[in-house]
Amino acid sequence: MPHKLSIVILAAGKGSRMKSDTAKVLHPISGKPMLSHIIKASLEISDDVSVVVAHQKERVIESMQSYFSDINFVVQDADNFPGTGGAVMNITPKNEKVLVLNGDMPLITSKALQGFIDSNADIAMSIFDLVNPDGYGRVIISEAGVEYIVEQKDASVEELMVTHVNAGIYSFKKSVLQKYLPQLSNANAQSEYYLTDIIALAKADNLTIEPLLVDEEHFKGVNSKADLASAEVIMQRRIKEHWMTQGVSMQLPETIYIEESVVFEGECIIENGARITGNSLIINSHIKAHSVVEDSKMINSDVGPMGHLRPLSHLTDTHIGNFVEVKKSTLTGVKAGHLSYLGDATIDTGSNIGAGTITCNYDGKNKYQTIIGKNVFIGSDTQIVAPCVIEDDVMIAAGTTVSAQKIEKGSLAISRVKMKSIKNFFYKFFGTSS
Ligand code: UD1
Ligand code: MG
Repeated sequence: MPHKLSIVILAAGKGSRMKSDTAKVLHPISGKPMLSHIIKASLEISDDVSVVVAHQKERVIESMQSYFSDINFVVQDADNFPGTGGAVMNITPKNEKVLVLNGDMPLITSKALQGFIDSNADIAMSIFDLVNPDGYGRVIISEAGVEYIVEQKDASVEELMVTHVNAGIYSFKKSVLQKYLPQLSNANAQSEYYLTDIIALAKADNLTIEPLLVDEEHFKGVNSKADLASAEVIMQRRIKEHWMTQGVSMQLPETIYIEESVVFEGECIIENGARITGNSLIINSHIKAHSVVEDSKMINSDVGPMGHLRPLSHLTDTHIGNFVEVKKSTLTGVKAGHLSYLGDATIDTGSNIGAGTITCNYDGKNKYQTIIGKNVFIGSDTQIVAPCVIEDDVMIAAGTTVSAQKIEKGSLAISRVKMKSIKNFFYKFFGTSS
């Protein structure tokens, strides 16, 4: 249930340490841009969520609008007011309390933010203690409480020794922001307006500042590709633990990758090395070792080892074996055990697809459909040139190129060069050894 709380997510920075043409906040974690994970957690506790953008703002806005309809975007004047302080200068929060989050903290959960919701202080700020505080702002605390935050680039040698660091999340009373934001200056090593400078200004006026000790597991910021990889490990662990609690069996779960949008129902088994992505829905099915399932649906089916379901494959009561690739096809009660490509196809109950069957669905310009009826037996090494309809109860002989657009119910289709066997050819060609 939303609280009387406005949330502002800072997502305008360049993220230059990512060394990428893509804005930092759009880098994916478990299949979704990291910013979307923070917005999702924010919408669980607030009815007023704003995202501050500047760098690549069109791309960031377009991407977030594809996930959420009920958030506001605020554009930072990053040329004149760079920095985290500049980022909050244009916001217009609806509520008296404002929670400021960073767009580069994809592991945040609404539960982990409870301390900020409960705090009655003028400012609540997040702190963690790190063995290696490198890169973070240091929080200087005296007997009288939090005194100020100093950024690494501005810190003295003594300040650099401090291991209490600013995790970068704060709740402010709206009046605190209104009063102190205009007082920020950019007289510092980075010539930026630091939001963190509000702490010292508020302290000088005897406002209450509550330090909240937070854990790295939820509050760690992503600033580099290495951080992105470690955040992914944590997110994957959460996703897999959730599904195992729901009864999904996983062999060597640390080798399995499952995107956040995947849904399992009933009793499913996932073997090591599987990758399951997009809006896949897996019901009572078995995904064997090293298979890839993308945006597909499986009901009472199995795939692999080393099977590949590309987007929009729908399998019901179907067995897909090793090295079989299926794309945008609906298979019901089908067996395709080995080495095949089934694309843009519909295949019905009782049909058996022999090893090496290929649907030739693309002529270099367009894609065409293959429709295979019930109880069709397709021999090994068959090519079906689409568009093609193979009616019920058909046999296709091994090695056939099906070039007719329709094979009638009950027929045999066969296309072969007559086989010859030439006696003693081997010895004539290679000679005899004795
Ligand atoms: C910031 C804090 C630092 C803290 C750290 C925690 C400041 C001055 N420093 O440093 O004390 O330890 O976070 O991770 O706040 N952003 C904007 N506009 C800007 C600049 C940044 O929206 O002009 C956004 C970024 O997109 C990012 C967030 O603010 O989501 C933090 O920016 P970042 O550059 O990562 O700050 P840090 O140097 O990590
Ligand atoms: Mg950061």
